[in-house]
Amino acid sequence: MSREEKTEPPGTILLAETPVDSLDDYLEGGGGQGLAAARERSPDEVIEEVRRSGLRGRGGGGFPTGIKWRTVRDDPSGTKFVVCNAAEGEPGTFKDRWLLRANPYQVVEGLGIAAYAVGAERAFIGIKTAFEQEIERLRVAMEEMAARDLIGPVAMELTPGPDEYLFGEEKALLEVIEGNEPLPRVVPPWMEGLFRSPDSLNPTVVNNVETLANVPHILRRGAEWFRSFGTDESPGTMVFTLCGDVRHPGMYELPLGFSLRDLIYGIGGGPREGRELKAVFPGASNTVISAEQLDAPLAFETMRAVGTGLGSGGFVVYDDTACIVRATLAFSRFLYVESCAQCPACKHGTGAITQLLERIDRGDGTDADVETILARALTVTDAQRCALPTGETLIAQSAVQVFGHEFEEHLGRPCPRQRDLLVPRIVDFDDRAGDFVYDERYRLKQPDWTYADEPSA
Ligand SMILES: Cc1cc2nc3c(=O)[nH]c(=O)nc-3n(C[C@H](O)[C@H](O)[C@H](O)COP(=O)(O)O)c2cc1C
Ligand code: SF4
Repeated sequence: MSREEKTEPPGTILLAETPVDSLDDYLEGGGGQGLAAARERSPDEVIEEVRRSGLRGRGGGGFPTGIKWRTVRDDPSGTKFVVCNAAEGEPGTFKDRWLLRANPYQVVEGLGIAAYAVGAERAFIGIKTAFEQEIERLRVAMEEMAARDLIGPVAMELTPGPDEYLFGEEKALLEVIEGNEPLPRVVPPWMEGLFRSPDSLNPTVVNNVETLANVPHILRRGAEWFRSFGTDESPGTMVFTLCGDVRHPGMYELPLGFSLRDLIYGIGGGPREGRELKAVFPGASNTVISAEQLDAPLAFETMRAVGTGLGSGGFVVYDDTACIVRATLAFSRFLYVESCAQCPACKHGTGAITQLLERIDRGDGTDADVETILARALTVTDAQRCALPTGETLIAQSAVQVFGHEFEEHLGRPCPRQRDLLVPRIVDFDDRAGDFVYDERYRLKQPDWTYADEPSA
């Protein structure tokens, strides 16, 4: 099917216009047909369809889903698992909870198809205990679907877990499902998975909520149909979270390739009256985007080409009242607190950069401090077990490089833009107010820039 022959307007793969309140609503809209189509084919054919669709992981890395499934399916180990990552903890991101509230059925069906395709023994959904609404929706959906044989042949269970950012890191997620603390282990899940032992490595597929939500649609309507959305290298749509200093914050499902400028100005209404956009932070894992880079299309390849990343599609907008040093400090301190200290360079490096940023923000910083930030940003990732400190490197380096003038303005004098800032960890979306509710525990408090209620230090 060519791009001109699109059968649906852009943006309607995952978030239907009408609410999906019950299994009957879901079935009426074609739900269940993805799993039925999968079961008519061999697991290899299902994987091939997903591979041909070009679906890429929506949890942050953009890894091709079909290739991940193929690797686990082809592993000679006799026991395999699949896990849905519903631990959503990236600052500025709320899309997984939004999808689970809107339609948990497509996620459960996607996980059932993944389990069938890779030959899994069991399937798990790792989700934060705090996500009560989403847990309830999932619980009901799983019960209803199991009663009508719409989950597939594999048992599925919900595993509630802690609030920590690291819970969403895939190797830590496996630890939590096994009943341990969210401490990332060394070997990736596709090599050594759940309940592994020296005799059985149990390779495991971990996929994000949104990734799995796409799967039933691909099986039902085909890879070509899916490719009619998005770009050649990033097919499909993505549910973007837009928050911070914009008039219309919210979750927006758009075809990949849509421009960031159109998302922020066309859909988000741009900055508030009289204000100008200064910077966009794509969560805590990528480089800061300046106002000059806004024309970059929102696709994995094009965001990389401008030196940043799509991440999990969350964008935190700051206008000209925000101080970039302070915003960088907020993200750096978040990463420091959430670092689990298994790798010394990560814990010490994020801590050192945070302290230097505090000093510069207070007005006690020097040129040497800025140089030291850049030097520590290079070593904070030494011997890392997970990608958390990569975010520190990218944010610290890009903030200094792109907003060097703001760092200079601070040297020897306190912040000229005295505005309170928090790390935008989203807890809810308030429909009436049309804005997000943030976790106030992550609001930095002067004079020592700790959190109001240090969450996990
Ligand atoms: C510190 C950290 C936190 C993460 N948090 C999440 C998360 O909350 N949800 C998620 O899906 N992926 C998260 N990821 C990415 C996962 O490790 C993993 O790549 C992803 O779940 C794979 O699914 P996908 O291929 O469908 O994207 C995180 C990664 C890191 C390093
Ligand atoms: S890199 Fe940091 S967060 Fe990741 S395991 Fe090591 S210490 Fe923990």
